[in-house]
Amino acid sequence: MGLKLVMWNVLAVAVLFSWVCSVEASVSYDSKAIVINGQRRILISGSIHYPRSSPEMWPDLIQKAKEGGLDVIQTYVFWNGHEPSPGKYYFEENYDLVKFVKLVHQAGLYVHLRIGPYVCAEWNFGGFPVWLKYIRGIQFRTDNGPFKAQMQKFTTKIVNMMKAERLFETHGGPIILSQIENEYGPMEYELGAAGRAYSQWAAHMAVGLSTGVPWVMCKQDDAPDPVINACNGFYCDYFSPNKAYKPKMWTEAWTGWYTEFGGPVPHRPAEDLAFSVARFIQKGGSFINYYMYHGGTNFGRTAGGPFIATSYDYDAPLDEYGLLRQPKWGHLKDLHRAIKLCEPALVSGDPTVVPLGNYQQAHVFKSKSGACAAFLANYNPNSYAKISFGNMHYNLPPWSISILPDCKNTVYNTARLGAQSAQMKMTRVPIHGGFSWQAYNEETTSYEDTSFTVVGLLEQINTTRDASDHLWYMTDVKIDPNEGFLRSGKYPVLTVLSAGHALHVFINGQLSGTAYGSLEFPKLTFSSGVNLRAGINTITLLSTTVGLPNVGPHFETWNAGVLGPVTLNGLNEGRRDLSWQKWSYKVGLKGESLGLHSFSGSSSVEWIQGNFVSRKQPLMWYKTTFNAPAGSAPLALDMGSMGKGQIWINGRSLGRYWPAYKASGSCGACNYAGTYHEKKCLSNCGEASQRWYHVPHSWLNPTGNLLVVFEEWGGDPNGIFLVRRDIDSVCADINEWQPTLMNWRMQTSGKANKPLRPKAHLSCGPGQKISSIKFASFGTPVGVCGSFREGSCHAHKSYDAFQRSCIGQNSCSVTVAPEIFGGDPCPNVMKKLSVEAICS
Ligand code: GAL
Repeated sequence: MGLKLVMWNVLAVAVLFSWVCSVEASVSYDSKAIVINGQRRILISGSIHYPRSSPEMWPDLIQKAKEGGLDVIQTYVFWNGHEPSPGKYYFEENYDLVKFVKLVHQAGLYVHLRIGPYVCAEWNFGGFPVWLKYIRGIQFRTDNGPFKAQMQKFTTKIVNMMKAERLFETHGGPIILSQIENEYGPMEYELGAAGRAYSQWAAHMAVGLSTGVPWVMCKQDDAPDPVINACNGFYCDYFSPNKAYKPKMWTEAWTGWYTEFGGPVPHRPAEDLAFSVARFIQKGGSFINYYMYHGGTNFGRTAGGPFIATSYDYDAPLDEYGLLRQPKWGHLKDLHRAIKLCEPALVSGDPTVVPLGNYQQAHVFKSKSGACAAFLANYNPNSYAKISFGNMHYNLPPWSISILPDCKNTVYNTARLGAQSAQMKMTRVPIHGGFSWQAYNEETTSYEDTSFTVVGLLEQINTTRDASDHLWYMTDVKIDPNEGFLRSGKYPVLTVLSAGHALHVFINGQLSGTAYGSLEFPKLTFSSGVNLRAGINTITLLSTTVGLPNVGPHFETWNAGVLGPVTLNGLNEGRRDLSWQKWSYKVGLKGESLGLHSFSGSSSVEWIQGNFVSRKQPLMWYKTTFNAPAGSAPLALDMGSMGKGQIWINGRSLGRYWPAYKASGSCGACNYAGTYHEKKCLSNCGEASQRWYHVPHSWLNPTGNLLVVFEEWGGDPNGIFLVRRDIDSVCADINEWQPTLMNWRMQTSGKANKPLRPKAHLSCGPGQKISSIKFASFGTPVGVCGSFREGSCHAHKSYDAFQRSCIGQNSCSVTVAPEIFGGDPCPNVMKKLSVEAICS
């Protein structure tokens, strides 16, 4: 490092940290980068949220992140998981934060700890414990004494825990950065002065905890010194920190997007994600965190929302099950290697920008010691660009950036996939004798000791305090024998207005109808003719929440449940308002209070066996036992035949399921080129938003596993299957002159004077072998993995080399050159190889 920089650093440290941090801090920052032990670093980070997988999965996830080229693992800290009731803390199992941080350390990676404690994250109530709402006078995320006291207490608790375990970098641990709050900027804007006071307080409170490592506030343009403000989004190249002496950080580079029940499944093409990262780096960015790198699963009732699905797959580089998502994982790994080759030049100073055409630019980084790295960009989403740079010519695909770590030779282009693609399959796992189900009927109309009666309609969250998704509302309606409808047969119409999220209406114990909202419109109205008889009728409403909201202002004011009015129309009197009569309430289901999901609870009642079980009855509990299947492939339950409910295995909740909520949206073709947004590349339209529900291996015993399902709507449990997730096929799709790392090394070391041919690498999953070559064409093939077709030019021996080198192997590679495929099938035409191999 140059003397000037050292001096600047000393000055910066003195100015910025004098009132807070120890001067010996081994993590600091300057205008270019985070500085660790005196060294500016380009850091690649990825989010893995520890409660969204099992501790048994953590080492493998972290290892795959490391192999994918990550330096840092970023996680939020989930307050409501850690402090389920005031002052009662929980740090076991998948909430074992210290264990997680230590595993990352053991793998040789750093940690960015986003304490929040507000986290958003599509997590129930944004991570806030629901009991916070009942602290007198509380107002969330603003200049409010009771709230600030609780926030400070929890933040301090976490910081002290990390200090006690010596987990901050300054004590030799892995934590190099922390975050306070989360995307508060837009909220502050809405709240005005109180918002500003709160964000200043939050920053000072955090800094006052003297962790010795920098604090970050994301989406917080006015983050006070020394806190670094950072960017979140699909693209962040336009972003600049609020002071020239802060580095340009991207805390959430969205790798995909979340799925909501009722919505299609979003995908973000690897080429565009890589393009956005290269754009950020070429504009001087030095810290990138992929949100999510592994999304995982919203187990239990941790999904936020409302209507956030149980799968938090996120189209992340590691899929929900922890398997590599290809080509995304591999394409980013190649990108990270290319960026790291440029690191010496990147951290040296600002780039020179050279225009190369209307939509083309070069960003050139040079260090004093002679390192030079260039990024050649083509922003045009529609066409290739032939450009000259230095005294060489380059061909840039649409919407792409080529990386030249020596300012001469291309090692990587964001739109050219060197990595293989993989198609996954879900295969039924034979269970000896199949699942043999027993059933238990949840009662609808009994007024029990646990119920209570008041006049009027109660708000749901205040009533359940989120101890259950369910709240029963029950009332009686007296129908005079002289009512006209009893003779005309024209039923009166019951109208129920609810703040959400789902509602079942029972008349005298019979399901009369169901209504539900969506993430965008959680409110619902039920309106339908109901079959009432002369005399006393019971109206029972089962109101169900589907995850509490995780984003927005004034958490303390959010409502759910039947707020009314509730009316009957079409009586002799016209309209009768039921809102202000006596209503009886019961929190939760009978099956929940009996603990039917657990071994002990489920053996405390009589279950029905036999053919009754298959009927599509609402409000049914089902149970079965099964032995764990052999093998280590990830497991899931296929719930395609079911409606809506919750699943437990050995007493632990896998989460909510709702395959009956079909995805509405438009799932068109997906072009990587052009600005991405979360509605752009969708799948599953018209199908279940989520059909498969992850079963972590570690939740299973070798024999006698108890599987319990609570079905609200009516489903067929005989259609539930245990499935295994494997690779179905792998593909390579490679240009004949594609840049590769190998080629780049040979060229720059002078070992090759002309470009080398790339190789197609194919690799099946552990324990699998390539059983056949489904497609191979060297020439001008078209289509994508799974549906390749020959083009007008095709080498007649395209299959031979793959048949020879790949069949029966777990992995293989074949050089992409005409002579390998029986000679050049069409000279002077740009050719490529597309191949698909079946894994068995
Ligand atoms: C961000 C937020 C994250 C997550 C993300 C969407 O705005 O900070 O916590 O909610 O949006 O997945």
